[in-house]
Amino acid sequence: MFLWGTATAAYQIEGAVGEDGRGVSIWDAFAHEPGRVRDGHTGDVACDHYHRWREDVALMADLGVNAYRFSIAWPRVQPHGTGEVNEKGLDFYDRLVDSLLEAGIQPVPTLFHWDLPQPLQDRGGWMNRDVAEIFAGYAAVAGARLADRVPLWITLNEPFVHMAYGYAMGVHAPGQALLTGALPAAHHQLLGHGLAVRALRAAGAREVALTNNCTPVWPASPQEPDLRAAQAYDILHNRLFLDPVLIGEYPDLSAYTPALDFLRDGDLDVICTPLDALGINYYNPTRIAAPTADGLPFSDAGITGHPTTAFGWPVVPDGLRELLTELKARYGAALPPVHITENGCSQPDLVTGRGTIEDAERIAFLDSHIGAMRQAMREGVDVRGYFVWSLLDNFEWAEGYHQRFGLVHVDFATQRRTPKASYRWLKGFLASEH
Ligand code: FCB
Repeated sequence: MFLWGTATAAYQIEGAVGEDGRGVSIWDAFAHEPGRVRDGHTGDVACDHYHRWREDVALMADLGVNAYRFSIAWPRVQPHGTGEVNEKGLDFYDRLVDSLLEAGIQPVPTLFHWDLPQPLQDRGGWMNRDVAEIFAGYAAVAGARLADRVPLWITLNEPFVHMAYGYAMGVHAPGQALLTGALPAAHHQLLGHGLAVRALRAAGAREVALTNNCTPVWPASPQEPDLRAAQAYDILHNRLFLDPVLIGEYPDLSAYTPALDFLRDGDLDVICTPLDALGINYYNPTRIAAPTADGLPFSDAGITGHPTTAFGWPVVPDGLRELLTELKARYGAALPPVHITENGCSQPDLVTGRGTIEDAERIAFLDSHIGAMRQAMREGVDVRGYFVWSLLDNFEWAEGYHQRFGLVHVDFATQRRTPKASYRWLKGFLASEH
């Protein structure tokens, strides 16, 4: 059965940050630091999903999806990041899973969507190798409670973005600007992933996946310096997080580090523990030119000549086909079945005088990207699922509530949910698919 779903993440929707024994995450700490998030927004309340989850499951049932990708908040399950388990936190996901199954919706949990327990950050976060082991312990706890009813699990969400934005540039939590010094945070996430795959399987999980953010990389020109820069960027964004997982080796990282000091014997065997599926989050291609003066081996040349989202991201549906067919060409039989675990766009989404939200651009976006995915499938890529980011407008990280990605509009003052035109379009589409 092809999975058609929506996707969300715990910190972006749940709110209820101080309830039922939840611990503090790096995103709580970061969002409360002045100047970190636009207009000082935080996830303290977000979509109040922790209290309104029944209404949100009902919305998905009405929409007609057969899968839902959400994330489990590690600090709800282990408030200190390790040791003591908070049963009330697990109870929340237990109820959610049961109610999804009752509605005929397959739960697809992600264990880590960036909300590291703050006590682990106090020990260095993902820069500390011990966190990989600790993560596997958390995976075992979550698996023991839910694997009897959850067939497909995702370990990490977008380790590239977490490393680059959180540890290299500092625009996301934990707000560190280590530049290329952030590479150990990539390795330790990957090691944690491999250990978590094993822990989940031991707990009875039938299928385990990793979700990466991937981008087709376009050289700004056919000139040698631009080609070399594009290759370096492709290594950092795509291959650093796929080669070790799928083929058990790191790509050439010499443009970023003289030595892989963080790598120990046996790590790559753990990291390339076979997967049942690979999650791909696709938003747009990236156009890369030769480096400028900032010390990195590339520069972002920007993409023009395409429509853009409210975020300013170029809309290039064929980039999804290009990405998928390139992954197939690159990894061949080592590429597991793929799920598009996120795809979607932010739009201004103005409420009309009649109270409706006419998001024609989002409809065109989804329609064209689903078309591109299907073209890749015709070209031989084994795609098994597609998840729209996102079910609800939500807390969009450093942008706070300014970027709206939902199929359902949320009025954050009243928590009123209003399905947008794109929701109705998707509902019709899904009805014709089943
Ligand atoms: C992805 C994140 C997701 C959301 C979308 C817009 O990078 O995984 O949480 O913010 O971007």
